[in-house]
Amino acid sequence: MSIRINKYLADSGVGSRRKCDELIIAGKVIINGAKAELGSQVTEGDKVELDGKPVSGQKANVYYMLNKPVGYVTTVSDDRGRRTVMELLPKGASRVFPVGRLDYDTSGLLLLTNDGDLAYKLTHPSKETSKTYVATVLGNVTDATLNKLRNGVDIDGFKTSKAGAKLIKAGDQSVVELIIHEGKNRQVRRMFDAVGHKVVELKRVAIGSLVMGSLKIGKIRELTKDEIIGR
Ligand code: URA
Repeated sequence: MSIRINKYLADSGVGSRRKCDELIIAGKVIINGAKAELGSQVTEGDKVELDGKPVSGQKANVYYMLNKPVGYVTTVSDDRGRRTVMELLPKGASRVFPVGRLDYDTSGLLLLTNDGDLAYKLTHPSKETSKTYVATVLGNVTDATLNKLRNGVDIDGFKTSKAGAKLIKAGDQSVVELIIHEGKNRQVRRMFDAVGHKVVELKRVAIGSLVMGSLKIGKIRELTKDEIIGR
């Protein structure tokens, strides 16, 4: 099967197809020793070079972090017609999928990538990747309650494993940072239900060592090289 040279280059992470066309026009792209033209096709075994360096034709991995707003589902499509996080990707973004899940009514850090290995590492239960949430809950959370959350609580017959729990703000509504290493459905909400506190707002702020930082709600950016290496 052959593909057009601009798609071959774009798939290799060189840039958008348009950008690749410009490079072709500029004479920087060589196929089997001859200058490529806009309509040139590439088949397996062809040798493609850009600025004298080989271009593999391998799909380049891309990684985005999104500060997901409430009111979006973290699936590629939704049979109930709700908005999906895919609508927040920049125009022309590479084809990616969300890693793991955040509830419709949860905001915060979501990774999107086309790197299946990374997605597996971050989401497979055996890897126990930590996820850090900030929950605003009804009522005053006591030290005793924090200890219960830390030691594990029963959610529908499942005992949660050890967690980190830190009180950020006490009052009629409390704010708690909770770090868990599992990913049961609606786990954080159910853990707080189990200790008698209803979650009114939930935000994920970190996955492992990857921290969302100051990224604004609804905004998306590519991970830096260092952030990717740290995964
Ligand atoms: N726990 C929840 O309850 N909701 C999420 O979206 C993520 C973790």
